Amino acid sequence: MLKLSQNGDIHTFRVLDLLQKVNQRKIDGQDVINMAPGQPSDGAPIPAIDYGIEQMKNGFMGYTEAIGTPFLRQRISAWYKDYYDLEIPAERIVITIGASGAFLYTFMSMFDPGDKIAMAAPGYPAYRNIMKACGITPIEIETTLQTNYQPTIAHLEELDEIPDGLLIASPSNPTGTIIQPEELEQICAWCRKHGVRLIADELYHGVTFGEKAETVARYCKDVVVVNSFSKYFAMTGWRLGWMVIPENTTHRIKCLAESLFVAPPTLAQHVAFKCFDHTDILDDYVARYQANLDILKEELPKAGITNLSDTRGAFYLYADISNITNNSEMWAKGLLDQEGVAVTPGTDFDLTRGHQTIRLSFAGSTEEVREACARIKRFLS
Ligand SMILES: Cc1ncc(COP(=O)(O)O)c(C=O)c1O
Repeated sequence: MLKLSQNGDIHTFRVLDLLQKVNQRKIDGQDVINMAPGQPSDGAPIPAIDYGIEQMKNGFMGYTEAIGTPFLRQRISAWYKDYYDLEIPAERIVITIGASGAFLYTFMSMFDPGDKIAMAAPGYPAYRNIMKACGITPIEIETTLQTNYQPTIAHLEELDEIPDGLLIASPSNPTGTIIQPEELEQICAWCRKHGVRLIADELYHGVTFGEKAETVARYCKDVVVVNSFSKYFAMTGWRLGWMVIPENTTHRIKCLAESLFVAPPTLAQHVAFKCFDHTDILDDYVARYQANLDILKEELPKAGITNLSDTRGAFYLYADISNITNNSEMWAKGLLDQEGVAVTPGTDFDLTRGHQTIRLSFAGSTEEVREACARIKRFLS
């Protein structure tokens, strides 16, 4: 047997397996309400796409700078001023291939194989998978409904050893919960005190209901903030994200970016640039997500699904269904087979306790969410 890397020996992304089943159902002509995928059901604003088409016709679609075009980096810098009232110079902004690319840059440029990074469980599965591929050990902090599925200072104080890094996500995937500004400040202070590199996934900023999520960049200059055009900006397939980096790390990330990907996609950078001018369209999407969330919170308890995350952002509700099953994968398969509703079993997000949880994504249409609730009730009756 020829050599294979142990670092590449990572878990499958179950939600993507599930998507294949959903697609097959569609090909077979069976109806399906898909509450599994973690993506908006609408695309980028049409005027932004039109702008991209113009650029394609008029311009040369060659490589851009490895860390992204100055015009987009400056536009994002202006967004920090408009949205958060915060000065983040364009020099600290790097354009990446989705948030996924930003995690790769962070882990490869700021950590060494053997290092440890703490993160919440449940959490986005790619965190631990990319860490593992980089030879980093994820330290999973078991959070609960009682701690809002977010790591607290008490959790950090209880760790067996001080990790090299801490990765937080607010709003979180899969729970939609938000870390409040004062807690963010405390987490930053704890990291500073213990020399821990803080990484903040702020991918779902903009997709928040009622309250804005605060950026960690307000409290900490050394933090790495990861963001993306995939969620609020509804540009999932365009594969574009960004990161705010500490000043002293730009050169090493630039060198890594040049060699790993040469540059982020040029067309996507043009479209993303124009998206900022059409936040009215994007905010309408968010209003629909909120209406969908309200329906789920009203209807799921009637079906017996009562232990719900306190979702304040992203388009996910995380439900503890331990009162119904100990096998969320079989349960989700049954729901799909019998009622044509796809949800994600929690095992993607929490390797040890996910067999008792599911994630519902409510980025689809309101009619679909209503119908899904009726079907879930029928399935459980
Ligand atoms: C919390 C979180 N981080 C990162 C990503 C990856 O996003 P991107 O499409 O920007 O690579 C996702 C995708 O679902 C996510 O939910």
